Amino acid sequence: MKAVEIKKDIYWVGAVDWAVRDFHGYEVPRGTTYNNYLIMDEEITLIDTVKYDFAEHTIKNITGVVDPARIKNVIINHIENDHATSLDRIMALAPNSTIYISEKGKKGLERFFDLSQWTVKTVKTGDTITIGQRTLEFLETPMLHWPDSMFTYAREDKILFTQDAFGQHIASSTRFDDEYVDCASMAELEDSVIDYYANILMPFGQMIKAKIAEIQTRGYEIDVIAPDHGIIWRNEPQKVVEMYQDMANGKARLSVAIIYDTMWQSTERMSVPISEGIKAEGLDCRIVKLRATPMSVAIKEFWKSRGALIGSPTLNNILYPSVAEFLTHLRGLRPKNRLVGAFGSYGWGGGAVKEAYEEFKRMGLQPVEPGLQIPYRPSRADEEACFEFGRNFARQVIEYHRGF
Ligand code: FEO
Repeated sequence: MKAVEIKKDIYWVGAVDWAVRDFHGYEVPRGTTYNNYLIMDEEITLIDTVKYDFAEHTIKNITGVVDPARIKNVIINHIENDHATSLDRIMALAPNSTIYISEKGKKGLERFFDLSQWTVKTVKTGDTITIGQRTLEFLETPMLHWPDSMFTYAREDKILFTQDAFGQHIASSTRFDDEYVDCASMAELEDSVIDYYANILMPFGQMIKAKIAEIQTRGYEIDVIAPDHGIIWRNEPQKVVEMYQDMANGKARLSVAIIYDTMWQSTERMSVPISEGIKAEGLDCRIVKLRATPMSVAIKEFWKSRGALIGSPTLNNILYPSVAEFLTHLRGLRPKNRLVGAFGSYGWGGGAVKEAYEEFKRMGLQPVEPGLQIPYRPSRADEEACFEFGRNFARQVIEYHRGF
């Protein structure tokens, strides 16, 4: 793609990665982009770079606007590999530019590059640089989602450059929310926001709330939110902020996700009458089989619903490996405000359901006990028990949901 002007003299100069599906283990069925931005002012300023194997893309896009040698400032909002690892390629073309970065960003970046070869200035919240007609203000956002992370606010243009926050993994020929909604749909865009939040930002809800409050306290007026992935919010920037606020406050659908795996279809057979019991209480229920579903999608489905039932056969007295993997992944994301329970089949000793509850407790999630275990294969009577188990769980989810 060529550079795209997002406001007068401010350009998207990033790269679209149509082919990526595995993003450091996170499934991205829609691909992604690595967004970075060029501000044409008296001091030409680049905000972020791109993933190293897309350096040529951004260099080409920058060169379409200006000779990169004229870049005076390079702001690094986030040092993760997908945004900062082509910095050396940029600096080779603009060796006299100054890098602006947070203190923690500098410490991290030293592990990637020899910074002594460049001019590097550290900045903190409230610091500004004037680049001509424009003032750029920095806002540290530590652990959103790395310690180094920060936003850059272009005051006069009312653009907030937010690195990963408010982003989505979407490869598209369109750059803006209104364009994307025209060619795809708002539902798809929202789903991508939820997917991103659930898989990357779930642990940081409290910080997100605090940072949104700080943005408001600082009086930032925002016309455009320009993240480092996916679609730029120029039509409804407030929409994504509200979505983040809702998610950080624990908003979820009044529904249940059944997330399971199965060896000989016994646990799978349990999931159907359980879902019917949930449905009988008026709740929507989505069934997710782990080995048929990317982990990131299973995490998203967990996150979207107020309640989740985890189904696992017992293998060698413990959880089935794919279910254990899911729960380990989930524990790292520190989920909150979700009601959980477990069920599963076993041959002789059992153990999977017990382990699932131990995991829930480790995560601090509220479990509905007891779980449901069935030996070998569910009988007709067992299916009835599954139905009642689903019904009871749904009732408790409805009650729990009232608290939000
Ligand atoms: Fe898109 Fe945290 O990197």
